[in-house]
Amino acid sequence: MLVQQFLVYLLTAKVASQSQDPNSSNCTRKCGSVSIPYPFGTTADCSLDDPFLITCDQSSSTPTPLLQADNKTVLDISLDGELRISHTTSQDCYDDRGQPTNSSSYSMLQLSHFSISSGRNKFVQLGCDTNADLFGWHLQPDRLTYYIGISSFCISADQVPNKSCNGFGCSEKIISEGGLRAILFNADSMKNHTEVRDFNPCGHAFVVEDKAYNFSFTDLSDFNRKTVPIVLDWAVGDQTCQEAKPGVGFACKAEHSECFDAKNGIGYLCKCSSGFRGNPYLLLGCVGIVAFTFLLHSCSTATNILNCGILLQRHYSVFSAGVTICLLILLVGSVFVYLELKKRKLIAFRKQAFQKNGGILLQQQIAKDKDLVETAKIFTEKELRKATNNFDESMVLGQGGTGTVYRGVLSDNKVVAIKKSKIVDQKPVVQFINEVIVLSQINHRNVVKLLGCCLETQVPLLVYEFVTNGTLSDHLHNESQSCQLSWTIRLRVATETAGALAYLHSATSTPIIHRDVKTTNILLDDNLIAKVSDFGASKLVPLNKTQVTTLVQGTLGYLDPEYFQTSKLTEKSDVYSFGVVLTELLTSKKALSFERPENERNLATHFVSSIREGCLLQILDNSLVNHKNTRQLKEVANLAEECLRVKGEERPTMKEVALELERIRIMDTDPWERDYWPSRIRLLVKKYFSDKRMYF
Ligand SMILES: *[C@@H]1O[C@H](CO)[C@@H](O)[C@H](O)[C@H]1NC(C)=O
Ligand SMILES: *[C@@H]1O[C@H](CO)[C@@H](O)[C@H](O)[C@H]1NC(C)=O
Ligand SMILES: *[C@@H]1O[C@H](CO)[C@@H](O)[C@H](O)[C@H]1NC(C)=O
Ligand SMILES: *[C@@H]1O[C@H](CO)[C@@H](O)[C@H](O)[C@H]1NC(C)=O
Ligand SMILES: *[C@@H]1O[C@H](CO)[C@@H](O)[C@H](O)[C@H]1NC(C)=O
Ligand SMILES: *[C@@H]1O[C@H](CO)[C@@H](O)[C@H](O)[C@H]1NC(C)=O
Ligand SMILES: *[C@@H]1O[C@H](CO)[C@@H](O)[C@H](O)[C@H]1NC(C)=O
Ligand SMILES: *[C@@H]1O[C@H](CO)[C@@H](O)[C@H](O)[C@H]1NC(C)=O
Ligand SMILES: *[C@@H]1O[C@H](CO)[C@@H](O)[C@H](O)[C@H]1NC(C)=O
Ligand SMILES: *[C@@H]1O[C@H](CO)[C@@H](O)[C@H](O)[C@H]1NC(C)=O
Repeated sequence: MLVQQFLVYLLTAKVASQSQDPNSSNCTRKCGSVSIPYPFGTTADCSLDDPFLITCDQSSSTPTPLLQADNKTVLDISLDGELRISHTTSQDCYDDRGQPTNSSSYSMLQLSHFSISSGRNKFVQLGCDTNADLFGWHLQPDRLTYYIGISSFCISADQVPNKSCNGFGCSEKIISEGGLRAILFNADSMKNHTEVRDFNPCGHAFVVEDKAYNFSFTDLSDFNRKTVPIVLDWAVGDQTCQEAKPGVGFACKAEHSECFDAKNGIGYLCKCSSGFRGNPYLLLGCVGIVAFTFLLHSCSTATNILNCGILLQRHYSVFSAGVTICLLILLVGSVFVYLELKKRKLIAFRKQAFQKNGGILLQQQIAKDKDLVETAKIFTEKELRKATNNFDESMVLGQGGTGTVYRGVLSDNKVVAIKKSKIVDQKPVVQFINEVIVLSQINHRNVVKLLGCCLETQVPLLVYEFVTNGTLSDHLHNESQSCQLSWTIRLRVATETAGALAYLHSATSTPIIHRDVKTTNILLDDNLIAKVSDFGASKLVPLNKTQVTTLVQGTLGYLDPEYFQTSKLTEKSDVYSFGVVLTELLTSKKALSFERPENERNLATHFVSSIREGCLLQILDNSLVNHKNTRQLKEVANLAEECLRVKGEERPTMKEVALELERIRIMDTDPWERDYWPSRIRLLVKKYFSDKRMYF
């Protein structure tokens, strides 16, 4: 049924094959090493309008892009509204008789549409006998609105520090004024460098991107840069978003794009909405992250990532959908698009597209976006084969209902766990996608981190962080495990697990029900910190729904009886399963064992009846009990009993369970835990007073 639903979603997802890049045979998206994303362009019909016209000057050996309106060399263009140009420096040199030589006069920068970025550029003065002045204008050139005057004096070379620009030989000031349209600056001297000529014949003044120049002592005698980079702000038009939105020329064309007023109040910028990537100025430019990643992947196998952008822009549509459940549809959709692409002799397309090469922008975005790179790294099959010694049996960590988990060592010696899902029918694919989406949203210290995936194989592979110390179940039930878990550790593990589940239920943008909480799905790391794993069965719940009807899934012994009977899944089903985990921690017994007498086979029911008959102490693991912790054990047992209530609504929420466990933990009077108190208490207070979200 799920598959069917996704297909329906898929069909309704818009797949238009509308042309993206305005048609022009003379349009190039790259000049020299600079890529030219729309709204910039080299011809009138492939750029938004005049301010965005770039001339590609082919006269020298390396083609140079020029901002046509102002005849300035462009160093790079970013879709975030910044642009780097190069501009001349001003110098003031003297010969040994104190007569000026080689001095350039004023340096002037006048921009017809864009402005000097505020806070990103600095005005630098260089020289031991040098004054530097800068004048700035806003829109009306006749009104002087900004001035910086800086100077520095020094009479000997030892006064000048080697590196720092602190007023001896060099001074600098950040240009904090926004919206400057023109600047004029120069360097001049008081004493014609007569006293300092031996080490400083010239003075210099220039405006430069803040990070692109660091003073060094040798610059006093030998500063040879004729041009330096300056950062400009660019924006579309001169209206605000509100004014421009109703108009026909509104530039934020992409679905899933948003408009932002420019920093200096003149014009606006567009941005893909969160969850989308690409070029917001193109009609189909913003693409869901998963589809985007997927397309990048399909390109990387055929040598060039860049062309993906072009393919995407030219022939395939936006996969319109929200960030969460819709991303799922997106991935399925892009699988289809991917197959479709293949059919159409993708390679021929790419060759053609390669020459146009406008997709570099997309690669830049990926390179820029750390989130995406980290949460959705794409591994090649070759890489993972190598990591697992060709999926050798000796590397198998575990086998479960949904697949096999291998241990792998990546080329950088990082150890990972690689999950290979079983293929039975379509369902595992859906589950796989589910898992990717769920996990890539989660960043919690007690949830196993998804490092990436490999989509090259028929059955997709998931790559997780490797959790070193096995499952909680092993620690509780495997006698060959060397040391037994102490009560303090068990209580901490329970608290961490409860915290993670509460987080999944309430803090993520879409509530997630794990559906298969059990001790074999709680992993422990070196420090025995709990990490909840295996979201193979997890379920996303739309925010306005509190229950969903599903095929019953889960593990016997942990399965919520109410869910089992009604097939209605709620967050309380996880609470029940967690209750079973608590009883396991308290008793060190397995949740279900056919070796026990019939009435004790199911630990949960046996535990509940023991508590109700007042025989708690008989069922507890005796080795845990000591005079200090009886109260804690009792409280945790009571909590477990509440979690195991038959009616879901009588069970506490996971958040309440987590808070209760926290409270019980700080009753602990173990001296070595004492340091732990203050920070925990602070956390608790914070939690009680903060909004619905919980931070552990
Ligand atoms: C678009 O460009 C192609 C050549 O690249 C040309 O064959 C086609 O006629 C052009 N279409 C329009 C509408 O100009
Ligand atoms: C392309 O450029 C050539 C010369 O540079 C010109 O003759 C031709 O008309 C241009 N074509 C288009 C579609 O602008
Ligand atoms: C553009 O600037 C260069 C020097 O940077 C100059 O040689 C050229 O003549 C200028 N072109 C125009 C059209 O002003
Ligand atoms: C300094 O240079 C100026 C020209 O910039 C010249 O008129 C003046 O005579 C020079 N002064 C000395 C002391 O050499
Ligand atoms: C002045 O320019 C000439 C050639 O343009 C150069 O050889 C000389 O070193 C320069 N002098 C100074 C002080 O920069
Ligand atoms: C600057 O560097 C030179 C050699 O690189 C060194 O001799 C001198 O002591 C340094 N001066 C300072 C103030 O660090
Ligand atoms: C200048 O120094 C800063 C901070 O040390 C560094 O990030 C930057 O890359 C340096 N810039 C250059 C051009 O060396
Ligand atoms: C698990 O952790 C404990 C304590 O840090 C350690 O003694 C034990 O060797 C570890 N077991 C494994 C399988 O790594
Ligand atoms: C117990 O652990 C050992 C090694 O840690 C393992 O070889 C064995 O299969 C485990 N036994 C069970 C029943 O899981
Ligand atoms: C949940 O919300 C969506 C849109 O916000 C709406 O279309 C849907 O009907 C709602 N479902 C229920 C059960 O209220």
